Amino acid sequence: MEQHKRPPASLLFIFGGSGDLNHRKLTPALYNLFMDDWMPEQFSIIGIGRRPFTNDDYRKHLLDGIQQFSRRKDPVDGDWEKFSTQVSYLQMDASVEEEYQQIAEIVKEKEKEFGVHPNVIFYLSVAPQLVPDIVSKLGPLNICSDTKCTRVVIEKPFGHDLDSAKQLNKQLASLFDEEQIYRIDHYLGKETVQNILALRFANALFEPIWNRSYIDNVQITAAETVGVEGRGDFYENSGALRDMVQNHILQLLCYVAMEAPVSFEANEIRNKTVDVLNAIRRIQPEEVYMHAVRGQYAAGWMNGKEVKGYRDESKVDAQSSVETFAAVKFYIDNWRWQNVPFYVRTGKRLNGKSTVINIQFKPAPHYAFPPEAAETWRPNRLTISIAPDMDIRLRFQGKRPGQTLNLNPVDMVFSYKDAYDGNEPEAYETLLLDVMEGNATLFMRSDQIEAAWKVIMPILDNWNNTTPTSFPNYSPGSWGPEDAAALVARDGHHWISLPNKDKK
Ligand code: BG6
Repeated sequence: MEQHKRPPASLLFIFGGSGDLNHRKLTPALYNLFMDDWMPEQFSIIGIGRRPFTNDDYRKHLLDGIQQFSRRKDPVDGDWEKFSTQVSYLQMDASVEEEYQQIAEIVKEKEKEFGVHPNVIFYLSVAPQLVPDIVSKLGPLNICSDTKCTRVVIEKPFGHDLDSAKQLNKQLASLFDEEQIYRIDHYLGKETVQNILALRFANALFEPIWNRSYIDNVQITAAETVGVEGRGDFYENSGALRDMVQNHILQLLCYVAMEAPVSFEANEIRNKTVDVLNAIRRIQPEEVYMHAVRGQYAAGWMNGKEVKGYRDESKVDAQSSVETFAAVKFYIDNWRWQNVPFYVRTGKRLNGKSTVINIQFKPAPHYAFPPEAAETWRPNRLTISIAPDMDIRLRFQGKRPGQTLNLNPVDMVFSYKDAYDGNEPEAYETLLLDVMEGNATLFMRSDQIEAAWKVIMPILDNWNNTTPTSFPNYSPGSWGPEDAAALVARDGHHWISLPNKDKK
């Protein structure tokens, strides 16, 4: 096995320890880190929740999550034993201040047991409205003044709008140093997302043409086939714009559009992404309809199965105006990107599960081939598939073999599956390891969060203040409402069809 330095002794407290995210993602990620020898020599994981669990029952519950959702589904007995003895459950009511003393006690005990002062990590995997209360009770604990070792991890959504995000940032800043705060956007932990930086900045080939002179438009799609999946109550307060665009999609856009960093130091990378967010042209209230389209899925059929419309989902208002689809056209006002449209779209119950970035290059400046040779001529395109396909393909024109001169587009493909062993770490593995190591590069700084909210606020305000009359306006299994096609068609473009249509 590859030799590497492991993180220092760590204690992880997971608020929401009996919840879905821990079951599906966090514990499987920690177990995979353990199996790959990335967990600290000494560690302890304490799930915190209100539900009663004995330690044994809790471990069984977590094992079930691994068996269902992990990339390693069948833990080997001995290994699971070794890992799970480091996992325990603390039943507590997080709204009661006195109960936090239990946490302080555990830290003291573990310090004694480990013989060193460990990293103390508080992972807040809880409903967003609970975050302010929990941090206000954690902050005064003695341990939290240790700015080097104590960290707090906050799941998205970070705030509900610009004002609430600012308020939460202010509260956090009064209790912790910025270096202690890890705001998660799990997209940044994805291998293929980090690879965008490698592609752009570890190669001399792309950077000279990565600008308005050569690039015609950029398209980012994050499409899902699932509906809201029992999360109706959460989604009713969110919608596609808040759930996907404000965070994941804007971060993808930042990685595509940012200037070259001077180093890979956390703040340098984050400075460069904030520059992009600050340069995104503000959409004027009266122009929102020209730049943004919203949609909501109707009832219908997908892959032979009847599916509910959004308004019929459980815990959803039967007249809901919440969008399950959003498409937006952004411009970035700087030298590199002036007037290059960045089209983004995301939605539930679409035709395929795919997150893809397309960089569409401009046409060749002069076309010397006879017209009959070039019927299928297409401009160059770079397609970066983030998930579930993981590949990069560059489309260019080739000559079709034969005695007549015929051009047609072909793809040059780099695929993770072919190039590597197909066992890439999942996003949460990378992110949890980074938290234990104290590396904040892939986490959102307070100003990044606020800059991202500023970008979408005009759209949010407009959508909050106007009732969509056409909802529901797209069928399950489609590519969203017709207006989304019109959004790009007005500029003479079309949505590029996706290489992957995994119907899950
Ligand atoms: C989450 C959203 O942040 O991202 C979900 O809250 C969405 O609604 C999910 O389904 C998509 O993540 P991924 O990694 O499956 O693309």
